[in-house]
Amino acid sequence: MGDTQGKIMDLIFGRWRSQTLYAGVKLGIFDSLQNNSKKATVIAEDLGLDPKLTYRLLRALGSLELLDESTDQTFSLTEAGQFLRTDHPESLRGITLLEEGPHHYALWKHLPAMVQDGKQNAFVREFGCSAFEYAAQDTTYAEVFDGAMSSFSMIQSAWVLDALQAYDFSQIAHICDVGGGHGHLLCSFLAKYPHLRGTVLERESAIADYTKLWATKLGVGERCQYLAGDMFKAVPSADAYIMKMILHDWNNEECVQILDYQRKAATSGSRVFIAEHIIPGPNTPHFAKLFDIHMMCWGTGQERTQEEYKDLLERAGWKYMKTWFPSSGLIAVVEGLKV
Ligand SMILES: C[S@@+](CC[C@H](N)C(=O)[O-])C[C@H]1O[C@@H](n2cnc3c(N)ncnc32)[C@H](O)[C@@H]1O
Repeated sequence: MGDTQGKIMDLIFGRWRSQTLYAGVKLGIFDSLQNNSKKATVIAEDLGLDPKLTYRLLRALGSLELLDESTDQTFSLTEAGQFLRTDHPESLRGITLLEEGPHHYALWKHLPAMVQDGKQNAFVREFGCSAFEYAAQDTTYAEVFDGAMSSFSMIQSAWVLDALQAYDFSQIAHICDVGGGHGHLLCSFLAKYPHLRGTVLERESAIADYTKLWATKLGVGERCQYLAGDMFKAVPSADAYIMKMILHDWNNEECVQILDYQRKAATSGSRVFIAEHIIPGPNTPHFAKLFDIHMMCWGTGQERTQEEYKDLLERAGWKYMKTWFPSSGLIAVVEGLKV
């Protein structure tokens, strides 16, 4: 088989890999191993699983280089497998449970039909309503979704801080993270810049469980406030707004509305920071171009180019300033100024 065929085979069977990985995470295999080696039968017994099928799953996870297999059917975590533990500081477990879990898995089958008939509504086709409406009814989905955002933020916040490494925050006192989830990004800013205070604006249900919020865990509880609200109705006044993975959830008209509310509430000279995947030019492969397809399936949104973000800012009355890129990482920060 040639290289090209091999590459296509990889694409065709890619979902087998992600679903095998998902099964390992969902069943608790990575947490069960921690830093130990265990025989397949012991893992199966610990987790209440069928021993023969467990061995085959472990062997496949070994083939994906997430586990290390010895000749006597004993397994341990590889360096990559460590990232799937719940307690890893940059754990990818939460995002696995969301993106390969049954809800998001079910969306993809609608992709060809959506592209044929031009209606971007896979979530509605599958579940009868939009994702956030669905999350309001189904607490299991809501918990997996909010948990995934929170844990993925442990990686993304570092990219945002890196992108804005050289930024002068001395003129900013109050920063509002709009749709800030459990507040990892905002609290990371507050931890790095002790003169800042912050507000996380979020849907009430996403911030109801105090134990999941980051403010106390990151030692900035006294400078961080969580505010239940609707970014389409009102936002608090602030010197800067930050939104990570927000505008990509919404179509252009909705984004202009969100940005317009912030500009109206902003103090003079305020900034808005939009942290998103940025689509690069033609023929440049990028995760953003695939994430865009996920957004097509999930809601009304999309990933955008730098020009498209500039256009959204200007339509909402902000002045585009600059796009800040991290030294490595998948998201960048587009900055706007209230003039
Ligand atoms: C894709 S998540 C991103 C969360 C967080 N910014 C992050 O990057 O981890 C989108 C967030 O927007 C919040 N959200 C959705 N609609 C909202 C609204 N109308 N007002 C405030 N927050 C909203 C959701 O609850 C969710 O936490």
